[in-house]
Amino acid sequence: MKFDILQVERAHLPEIAALEALSFSEPWSENALNLFLSGDAVAFAATEGGRVLGYIGMLLAPGEGQILNLAVLPEARRNGIAKALVARLLEEATARELGSLSLEARVSNAPAIRLYESCGFAVAGTRKGFYRHPAEDALVMIKTLS
Ligand SMILES: CC(C)(COP(=O)(O)OP(=O)(O)OC[C@H]1O[C@@H](n2cnc3c(N)ncnc32)[C@H](O)[C@@H]1OP(=O)(O)O)[C@@H](O)C(=O)NCCC(=O)NCCS
Repeated sequence: MKFDILQVERAHLPEIAALEALSFSEPWSENALNLFLSGDAVAFAATEGGRVLGYIGMLLAPGEGQILNLAVLPEARRNGIAKALVARLLEEATARELGSLSLEARVSNAPAIRLYESCGFAVAGTRKGFYRHPAEDALVMIKTLS
């Protein structure tokens, strides 16, 4: 599957909000997604002919990044889109000289956990009761950047 990876702009937000609604029990609203247009965070979208197929977003803190969101349209999954989005985010983190990237994933989310492991993230611990709808623990995963 051919796709481009672009930094998220305002015009992408309605499609990303729809992707959130398809992917999560507590989806981010279009308003909440404005975070990714601020200097506090950065996000990338995978697009095909202008249509958003997937996206990833990272919150920026001094010296470190936290991956907040990653989702791919159900019909576009298993085509390497998430892997390419993580790779683009890692490039960005390196360019910004961040020391590490972290994220939380539901302990039952095998696709996300396998994906992040294949990108060099390691399980660093768990957060009990981190998620609601349904209640579930989170795995914390971290990748140190050199
Ligand atoms: C997790 C998600 C983003 C993966 O997106 P994707 O574009 O399908 O992932 P990729 O095609 O890049 O997969 C890369 C690797 O991840 C792993 N992986 C992805 N989906 C998988 C699945 N359903 N089962 C097992 N492993 C999986 C595999 O190792 C895969 O490599 P392979 O296809 O060569 O075996 C997607 O399933 C999704 O949007 N899920 C719902 C939202 C979500 O859970 N987001 C993560 C929150 S932490």
